[in-house]
Amino acid sequence: MHPSTPQAGFALPIDIVIMAAGKGTRMKSSCPKVLHRIGGRPLLQHVLDTAASLQARKVVVITGHGADPVEASCRASSGAEFALEFARQEPQLGTGHAVQQALPHLGDDGVVVVLSGDVPLTQADTLFHLIHASAGNKLALLTLEMPDATGYGRIERAADGAVKAIVEHKDASPDQRQIREVYSGIMAVPAASLKRWLARLDNKNAQQEFYLTDIVRFAVADGETVVAHKITDAVQVAGVNSPVQLAQLERAYQLGIAHRLMEEGVRLADPARLDVRGDLSCAHDVSIDVNCLFMGQVSLGEGVSVGANCVIANAVIEPGVVIHPFTHIDGEKLGVTVGAGSLIGPFARLRPGAILGAGVHIGNFVEVKNSTMAKGSKANHLAYLGDATVGERVNYGAGSITANYDGANKHRTVIEADVHVGSNCVLVAPVTLGAGGTIAGGSTITRDTPAGALSVGRGKQVAIANWSRPAKAPKA
Ligand code: UD1
Ligand code: CA
Repeated sequence: MHPSTPQAGFALPIDIVIMAAGKGTRMKSSCPKVLHRIGGRPLLQHVLDTAASLQARKVVVITGHGADPVEASCRASSGAEFALEFARQEPQLGTGHAVQQALPHLGDDGVVVVLSGDVPLTQADTLFHLIHASAGNKLALLTLEMPDATGYGRIERAADGAVKAIVEHKDASPDQRQIREVYSGIMAVPAASLKRWLARLDNKNAQQEFYLTDIVRFAVADGETVVAHKITDAVQVAGVNSPVQLAQLERAYQLGIAHRLMEEGVRLADPARLDVRGDLSCAHDVSIDVNCLFMGQVSLGEGVSVGANCVIANAVIEPGVVIHPFTHIDGEKLGVTVGAGSLIGPFARLRPGAILGAGVHIGNFVEVKNSTMAKGSKANHLAYLGDATVGERVNYGAGSITANYDGANKHRTVIEADVHVGSNCVLVAPVTLGAGGTIAGGSTITRDTPAGALSVGRGKQVAIANWSRPAKAPKA
């Protein structure tokens, strides 16, 4: 999912500072802004994943508002790809002040990339170009042209085109506000220079903040070249400040996934009506109808067809499976496997530990949980299989259930090969149905049934002749 960009050709260590202390007032949420999700992952997690694919040496996350949950979320999700450290910024006095808090964590030997925890969709190769533009010895700014640059820092250039300064919107003159090239909020800067320049910051500006962007002036004053790496894809530097922006970036992200899948040969009925919150991998000739949601780790084998309005999470769907509309599959931690050529749904529900062999049929309103079903078994209508081991070619009738829970413990039901369970049976576990047996419809089975036999567990039908129905009592 994340294009991993080899660090080839870049000799210096890369350290990353992620600013994530801001409050996110406009989200109007008690959840810290950087923990709101895109594609099922916190915004900040996207940034950490990008850091991992840059092969960063260290990532320092600047926290403030909601520091405890933000740090816990980072720790929970980040592996050993880089050293993860935190610096608290309290109070928040601006972006320059934020990066100052990270300085004690940074060596002098690397190049520092400054990112924001609320800008989730920056691609690793874009950052790589930026790092290469800095070459480890220049300040490099990621910039872009904006038709409406309101609110952004403007890139002020000299007559010869050299970058002179970043002027924040609130400090800009009417002429400067005409400038369309803006600072994205992302820079790469040699660590030693960053430390020198940050020491010179003040807050004498319109917002009385310590602006990280003032270091551009200091670099120019020191006679150093500042380079701008200009991109055109605004989504890559778009931040999330409001629920509307969150939803817009979610769409952009999902469209990106849809296009990648289609390039791999997946046929999507409508790329605008697909949601992937996790990792979806597809073999050839997979087709997915509208409004499907995939979560966690899902793999779809060759030729799998998924009908409209399915939710599929943490599942392995083997080749040739047809999943009819409105099916809900969630393997959670145990996983779900659907064997090759099986037919599932419509309106089926596969829960954790449902392991289906080849050619299994699961029809409408059938729920399967923590059960294996061997090759060719069928449960086509209105049924429950929980904690069951089902052999090959079993037919499980409409309305039948395993009574797997005695109010305290769960017990297993074993249904051997070729058993035919009639309609509306209750199989009271623990119980074993012997191979090839038939269970009469309406039976309540509390003892093991012999192989090959017809087992009947219900009241005998009787007929009472000449029975007269109750009559209504006469009105008083
Ligand atoms: C900043 C840039 C501006 C650029 C814009 C791009 C500065 C002074 N200006 O402006 O040139 O065009 O980004 O989006 O850098 N944060 C902290 N602590 C603070 C202040 C901010 O952690 O004290 C974090 C915020 O949570 C956010 C990021 O830094 O993730 C950027 O801060 P924000 O206030 O959005 O900066 P802008 O004013 O938009
Ligand atoms: Ca911003």
